[in-house]
Amino acid sequence: MKHMPESFTEHFAALDQLLLDHQSLWDNQPFTQQRLAWEADYPELSAWLRAQNLEHAERHQLEPWKALEEAPLMAPGESGAYFLREIQKMYLTLLAQTGLPRHPVKQLPGVMSRGIPGRKWQQIEAFAACLPPHWQGSRWLDWCAGKGHLGRRLAWPADSLCSLEHDPALVEAGKQLSRQWHVKASHPQCDALGEQAIAHLAASDTWVALHACGDLHTSLLRHSKQQGVQRLAIAPCCYNRIRTRHYQPLSGLGQASALQLDRHMLGLPLQATVTAGAAEIRRLNRNMAWRLGFDLLQRQWRQVDAYLPVPSAANRWRHESFAHWCQAAARLKGIQPGPVNDWQAAEQAGWQRLAEVRNLELVQGLFRRPLELWLLLDMALFLQEQGFAVQLGEFCPWQLTPRNLLLVAERQEEIQEKCT
Ligand SMILES: C[S@@+](CC[C@H](N)C(=O)[O-])C[C@H]1O[C@@H](n2cnc3c(N)ncnc32)[C@H](O)[C@@H]1O
Repeated sequence: MKHMPESFTEHFAALDQLLLDHQSLWDNQPFTQQRLAWEADYPELSAWLRAQNLEHAERHQLEPWKALEEAPLMAPGESGAYFLREIQKMYLTLLAQTGLPRHPVKQLPGVMSRGIPGRKWQQIEAFAACLPPHWQGSRWLDWCAGKGHLGRRLAWPADSLCSLEHDPALVEAGKQLSRQWHVKASHPQCDALGEQAIAHLAASDTWVALHACGDLHTSLLRHSKQQGVQRLAIAPCCYNRIRTRHYQPLSGLGQASALQLDRHMLGLPLQATVTAGAAEIRRLNRNMAWRLGFDLLQRQWRQVDAYLPVPSAANRWRHESFAHWCQAAARLKGIQPGPVNDWQAAEQAGWQRLAEVRNLELVQGLFRRPLELWLLLDMALFLQEQGFAVQLGEFCPWQLTPRNLLLVAERQEEIQEKCT
C-alpha cells in the first residue's frame, strides 16, 4: 500500500465537504432520539435498517459500508444513491492510500516483551517499523508513556529515554523495567498538560506518543511548534477527551472550516469495538437493551417524550430482572413508576429498540473513518505549516487497534542535511 500523498490540502478539503454535506447522517444520537432527522429524507433506508436484527448490525459494525451495499438505494430522486456511492468512493480511496512505508527494525531479546499484552506489543513493533531508520541513535521522549514500553523498545540498547507519565504506579513500574533492561532512562512523574512538562521537552529529542488521549496529543503538537522539535511520531486516540467544549483545530484550513466538532461528535471515531469478547458484548447488550426498555417506560410514566439518562453506575447493579432494574432506576431518578402489565414484553421492546439503534448507527459508522481522517489531516497540515515533511497512514491493521493512524513528521531541513 502507498502512503497518503502529500496533497493533504485536497484530502482535507474533500473530507470537509463530505462531512458538512452529510452532517445530518452522522451528527445524531440514535440511542437517545427515537427518530432521526435524516429518516424523513431516506424513508426506505430507514425502514430497511429498522427491520434488521441485532446480529446484522453486529456483523457489519466494523465495515458498515458492506451492510449498506445490500440496502435498497432509495430516497428522493437520485440523492439517496448519491450519498452512499459518494461516501464509499471516498472511503475506499482513502483506505487505499493510508499505508505507511515500513523499515527494518532492530531485533529485541524476546523476553523484553514478557508481561506486555500481546496486542500492545504488536502495536509497538508496528509503530517502531514506521519510523525512519536514521532516527535511531536519538534521545527519545515517550509522551504519556504508561510504563514506557514504546520508548524503551526504541531506546534499547544504547539510546536514552525520557518516559513522561503522571500515574505514579506506572512510573514506578516503568523505572523498574528500564533498570532491568539497562536502558538509560528518566521517568519523570509529570502532568503532561501542566507547565512543568515543558522542562522535559528538548527540541533535539525525538518525540513519540502512542495513544495519548485528546488534549494530551494536541498539546504535544502545540509544543512541537513552540519548542522547535525536529522529529515526532504520534498515534492519537480518544479525540473526545478534551477540556474545551469543541475541538480547537490546529491548522489554518481546520480553523477556516465550518465544521464545529463537540465532544459527542468527537466520540464517533471511537465507536467501533474490536477488542470485546463474546461475554463482554452480551453484557453490554443487556445493559443497553434494559436502558432502552426503561427509556420507553419512563416516557410513558413521566408523560414526557424525552430521553432520561441513568448514571453509568447502574450498569453494575446486580438486579437479576428487568423489572427490578427499572424500579431501581425510577427510584434513582425520582420517578413514580406506572403499572406495567407485561414486563417480558417491555423488556423485549428494549431489545427491539437496541436492534434498531445499532442498525441506524451503521449509517453513522460510514463517517467514523472520514471524521478521524479529518482530525489527523488537521494535525498533518499544522505540522506542514511549520515546515515538517509529514507522512500519515495506518501503522498496523485495525484488528490490533482501531486507533491505527500514525503521523510521522520530520523538519525538512533535517532531512536535507541527512541527504547531503
Ligand atoms: C492510553 S494510555 C497509553 C499509554 C502508552 N503510551 C501505551 O501506548 O501503552 C494513556 C496514558 O496517558 C497517561 N496520562 C493521562 N493523563 C495524563 C497527563 N495529564 N499527564 C501525563 N500522562 C497522562 C495515562 O496514565 C496513560 O498511561
